[in-house]
Amino acid sequence: MAGCSKWFLVCLVLCLVGLVIVLVINDASIDVMQRTVTSHRKNFGRYSKDAILPRLSSMLRGSKTAAELEDGEKTSINGSFFRSTLEGILDNDFSQAPELSIPQMVIEERKYRHDDQFEKYLKCPTTVRKKMLDNPNIRSKFVSDIPILMWDKHFNASEFRRLTKFRAINGWKDMNYTDIRGMVGQLNSPSNQYMFDDRLQKGQVPSNDCTTCAVIGNGGILNGSGKGAEIDAHDYVFRVNAAITKGFEKDVGKRTSFYCFCMHSLHNTLAKRRKTGFEIPKDDENLRYLFFAKSEWTYTYLDAALSGKPLPASTGKYHRGPPAFPKQLTADNVKVLHPDFERYLKWSWVNSSAQHKDIHRPTTGAIMLLAALHTCDQVSIYGFAGSYADYSEYYYDKTFSKHVNYANHDYNSENKLWQFLDEQGIVNLYHRTPKEGK
Ligand SMILES: *[C@@H]1O[C@H](CO)[C@@H](O)[C@H](O)[C@H]1NC(C)=O
Ligand SMILES: *[C@@H]1O[C@H](CO)[C@@H](O)[C@H](O)[C@H]1NC(C)=O
Ligand SMILES: *[C@@H]1O[C@H](CO)[C@@H](O)[C@H](O)[C@H]1NC(C)=O
Ligand SMILES: *[C@@H]1O[C@H](CO)[C@@H](O)[C@H](O)[C@H]1NC(C)=O
Ligand SMILES: *[C@@H]1O[C@H](CO)[C@@H](O)[C@H](O)[C@H]1NC(C)=O
Repeated sequence: MAGCSKWFLVCLVLCLVGLVIVLVINDASIDVMQRTVTSHRKNFGRYSKDAILPRLSSMLRGSKTAAELEDGEKTSINGSFFRSTLEGILDNDFSQAPELSIPQMVIEERKYRHDDQFEKYLKCPTTVRKKMLDNPNIRSKFVSDIPILMWDKHFNASEFRRLTKFRAINGWKDMNYTDIRGMVGQLNSPSNQYMFDDRLQKGQVPSNDCTTCAVIGNGGILNGSGKGAEIDAHDYVFRVNAAITKGFEKDVGKRTSFYCFCMHSLHNTLAKRRKTGFEIPKDDENLRYLFFAKSEWTYTYLDAALSGKPLPASTGKYHRGPPAFPKQLTADNVKVLHPDFERYLKWSWVNSSAQHKDIHRPTTGAIMLLAALHTCDQVSIYGFAGSYADYSEYYYDKTFSKHVNYANHDYNSENKLWQFLDEQGIVNLYHRTPKEGK
């Protein structure tokens, strides 16, 4: 009887140890271990790869510390290298974060990393960000040191684990780390770090540099507005989705400095191209493509586009073919918003009764507008917040088309926000009475 329970205990312990091994040493870290050991063979002294792997594994399980190994096994092994390798491997644990319950998610989604890139956006003495920090009604919404753009420094194992808690656009849940590393690692130009890279001097933002921006929504309020020249007079013009300028120059202008989209909105926009005449903007010399990483497709697509590999279609239920850009995409003309910025917009800026739902997120137009508000020094808004009864959905509509609400967006709260920012003197919102100009 006693012997039986002893064996039972031994089994139990072995099972638990096995479980811990499975949990801690997942495929990714074994893969990294193999590669590390192979590429640094000489630092492991007389040990063969086969001998070193179990030792690393046992250290990963915590059964031996690096120090114990160093002192206890006086061999030709290089202890300090061994320890730093181990730390490297621990930081190379690309396992996915565990599933969170909705209440936990609500808490976790509101934790953001702080980033010093905001300092680049505070050089202008009259910048809108200083106004927001001074305004008691807005200060509480505005996190000045939120990461805005994403580039190579933002990818490592701990960031991967942190961000796989959240579904894309808010993070990297269920995504392949190879694809993310491939894309983010190629965002290695100074252009990826600063919205207005054409102003950088020797990689630095000039002091007292102030930028004016026009942010153009596609609302029917622009039809017959005659605002084209005024829009084009800004330093930068932001446009989104079916931003058709050809034939509408008088109302919407002709310049595009930032073309904003997510892969799915771009696909839908291009699908209607025959009807609308839309083409991806290409003519402006300093044109930049601003990607909102709404799905893994952004990562697989950009990874391939930036390294010259064949472009992938979207995966999953909807099979969408890869869009062709009219210009070669390079680290210099591509920018990607950081997932923390997207979560922060959802929680801080676009308040909605649907906020706690997984699918809720600001519209592509709202993301563009808020990205401009966090980077430009002066922001003028056109084509947003027009009355849906008085104006057709889009300025380029040929016949009146009614506004459609989608469940993942909250149009009313967005429109109220633009009105509020205008009233507070933060942005200039283009208003109009329906009969004006006739
Ligand atoms: C151990 O490895 C480290 C890092 O590669 C190296 O700097 C150090 O010189 C090595 N020490 C010995 C005794 O080989
Ligand atoms: C991972 O990247 C983040 C963001 O850039 C950084 O803050 C953190 O220190 C990095 N971690 C390691 C272990 O390098
Ligand atoms: C991740 O993608 C890479 C290449 O794109 C592929 O080789 C690998 O098998 C994928 N891993 C998983 C877990 O799907
Ligand atoms: C969001 O809306 C709720 C009510 O729906 C309100 O209690 C809360 O104060 C609002 N938050 C912000 C940041 O406006
Ligand atoms: C655009 O404005 C013109 C008048 O300026 C009007 O005739 C036309 O119906 C408008 N288009 C739509 C789709 O509402």
